[in-house]
Order: sequence, then C-alpha cells, then structure tokens
Amino acid sequence: MQHQLQELRTEALQKIQNCKSQAELLETEKAYLGKTGSLQEILKSVKDLSADKKPVIGKLSNEVKKELEAEIELQKQTLKKLEIEAKLNSEFLDVTLPGQKPEIGHLHLIPQTQKEVEEIFAELGFAVMDGPEVESEYYNFEALNIPDTHPARDMQDTFFLDNKLDDEHGRMVLRTHTSPVQIRSMLTHGAPLRIIAPGRVFRYEATDASHDAIFHQVEGLLIDENISLAHLKGVMAEFLTRLFGQKVKVRFRPGYFPFVEPGLELDFSCLLCNGGGCRVCKQSGWVEFMGAGMVHPNVLKAGGIDSEKYQGWAFGFGLTRLVMMKHKITDIRYLMNGDLRFINQF
Ligand code: PHE
Repeated sequence: MQHQLQELRTEALQKIQNCKSQAELLETEKAYLGKTGSLQEILKSVKDLSADKKPVIGKLSNEVKKELEAEIELQKQTLKKLEIEAKLNSEFLDVTLPGQKPEIGHLHLIPQTQKEVEEIFAELGFAVMDGPEVESEYYNFEALNIPDTHPARDMQDTFFLDNKLDDEHGRMVLRTHTSPVQIRSMLTHGAPLRIIAPGRVFRYEATDASHDAIFHQVEGLLIDENISLAHLKGVMAEFLTRLFGQKVKVRFRPGYFPFVEPGLELDFSCLLCNGGGCRVCKQSGWVEFMGAGMVHPNVLKAGGIDSEKYQGWAFGFGLTRLVMMKHKITDIRYLMNGDLRFINQF
C-alpha cells in the first residue's frame, strides 16, 4: 500500500508539472484528487486496513494529498504567468521604434513657379490680384475693346455657360484670358496701379503636345503718369533675369490685340544658345514669350480711368509655357494629368 502511494505520488507530480494549460491541469486534479480520483480510492480503502497500518497509511495519504494540492497550486500560478507573458509578447509594442512617416506632398510645378513669379514682381512693387474664372462676356470681351464680331468670341474658342447675367454683362463664360482682371483692378483701385494677376484660363481647343483646354497665364498692368514702353522693356528684362538667374535680353515685335495700342509681342533671348541660334529657338536666337502693349484708351475708360492724365501698359504671358521652357517639358499634358511619376520629379 505504501509502495502504491509512493508510485501514485511520483506519477501525479510529473503529470501536474507537465500540464500545459489550466484545462489540462483541472483534468489532472480531478483524476487524482476528485471524488472518484485514484487518491480518493486509496483513502477510501484505509478504513479496511489493520489497526497498525491504518495510522501510517492514513498519514501518508494525507501528506501525499497535501503535496499534490500544493503542486497543483504552484503549476496553476506558473501557467498563469506563462499565459500573461505570451499575451504580452503577442501584443508587444515597442514605443521606441521610429513612427511611420506620413508622405509629405509638395506644390505642383505650376503654383511653385507662380510663387516665384509673384515674389519677383512683388519685389518690383507690383500687387498680386485675383479674379473670377467664371466671367461675364462684358469683362472678358467688351470692356477689353473686343467687339461682338471678334473671332475670339467664336464658339470654337470660348466655353459659354447657359445662364445670362443681364443685358449689360451678357452671357457667362469661362475666362479665355486673365485680361478681365485689368478692368476689375482699375475699377476697384483706380490709378496709379501696378498689378499682376496670375490664374487659370480656358479655351475650347483640342489638346495636343502644346495646347490644353486649361492653362495658366499671368497678366500684368501698370498705370501711372508718363509711362512708356521703355518701362515695360526694363521690367520684363529684370523679371526674366531674376527668374532664370542669368542675364536675359528682351525685344519687341509689332503685334495686335484689341485692348492695346500700339500692340506688341515680346521675345526673350534664347537661354540655350544665348542668342546664337539652336533648335529650341528655331535658329532665331529668340523665344516668343508674350503679348503686350500700351493700354487702349477705351479700356482705360471702361476701367473708369482718365486717359488724358494716365496711360500705361499691359502684358499677358502663359505661365504654363514658361514652366515648360524653364524645365524643358515637351508635352503640356504632363502638367495637368496628375501622374505622380511626373509630378514628383519637381
Ligand atoms: N490676353 C492676351 C492673350 O491671352 C495677352 C495680352 C495681355 C496681350 C495683355 C496684350 C496685353 O493672348
């Protein structure tokens, strides 16, 4: 009997220590210490033993029982500790790891360059103006001395909206140039005036490598007393020299726009060949850049400015084309299609 008890003790202790889960431990506890467990069976048979063996076996059985109970409790604690550790390991969070960096965007090439342009003109004393992209026919055409019969109004060039503002302002259009801001600025601020107005313009055109229905322009307007085209030449040469970071020369050619008189086109010396002639400037040494001229008296009148006292010049250039020249971009469509492989190069 004593021997049997010792064997049971050794076996039970080992089983308890090998338990891998609380459930398994509970099973083992039941198997040895439960009502029908093996130790209980032995305890039950103690009463049938002889008087001299009874106290010895009784005592030993109780000792074994206590020992097993203690071992079970110990294993219970060990398992609990392991469970907590496993949980901690699976949920481990290293707060010292560097965080995930959010992707930081940057300005698109057009607004980037627009900012540079604005900064240079601000240094030269020009204010930056804004105007609506949805304009009335009046501001986009009439006030700029563009009569009803002008081909620019043709459905081929202009996006017309369905609604008509009133008889005086005509239909609504998507502005075809930034020139309406000339009128708006004159009406709001009067003379003298020194502004630029960058912004989006729209033309009903088929797109190809050098044409897009949406592009960006920069308008310029200077009105004061005793203003001549010499000032325009000086301002533009200075502007382009600062923008390109190298000496740039400009030249005038005659040109026609209804809202200026005389009207002209301004070219600048080719930056690639320095005027010597190359493929970019088609061997001429000059790059066509913008339209300009002395503000037409009718335009000054529409802007509420006394054309006897004041005169000035205006210009308009394509910001989009400037960006393309500056960064040697060969297709205008790259600029607006939102392809990150293109955009992230700048
Ligand atoms: N608005 C003209 C264009 O879009 C450019 C221009 C502006 C010409 C001002 C002369 C003076 O082509």
